Amino acid sequence: MLTIRDATIADAALIRRLIGELATFEKEPDAVRTTAADIARDGFGASPQFRTIIAEWDGAPAGFALFFDYYSTWRGAGLYLEDLYVCPDYRGRGIGSALLARVARAAEQERRSFVKWSVLDWNQSAIEMYKAHGAEFLDEWRTALLSGDGLRRLTEKDC
Ligand code: ACO
Repeated sequence: MLTIRDATIADAALIRRLIGELATFEKEPDAVRTTAADIARDGFGASPQFRTIIAEWDGAPAGFALFFDYYSTWRGAGLYLEDLYVCPDYRGRGIGSALLARVARAAEQERRSFVKWSVLDWNQSAIEMYKAHGAEFLDEWRTALLSGDGLRRLTEKDC
């Protein structure tokens, strides 16, 4: 039986493990730099930077969703879904849909008018699932990331 609960600081190591599994699925197993300590501090400290919900099947961890507040100058307040993941043995049982629905419910309860996220262009099964749930794809937009040396170099140009 499926239950979905809010994560607590005691779940930091579990969340980090699931983040790692998602990164492996996304073919970037070494890209995760956050530690369980980072997750504990940033998600469950004095001013949490994200929220996590955990799906359990008969009490065993089966997946998670991690999301945070987002603001669009066009649409106003929304949520950004950073990660959605269901462990391989539990896929196809409605757990991913249930996690997504719980995030949608949070948005509605908080008067946030949208949920936004990114998915890799080859992840066809996730794309199909998102389309089935009514998501639109913003194909004309590219995602940009500035970090490391590039971020430092630009910082030096600040007057
Ligand atoms: N087996 C059977 N059906 C599947 C499967 C599967 N492995 N994956 C998706 N589906 C289909 C189902 O047919 C279902 O359609 P239906 O409601 O008409 O029956 C639909 O997709 C949704 O199925 P769920 O059971 O709710 O999806 P699931 O619990 O498997 O979760 C998810 C979907 C999250 C994509 C999961 O397969 C997964 O974790 N995949 C690997 C990681 C991933 O792709 N994460 C999303 C990355 S994008 C992001 O993180 C924002």
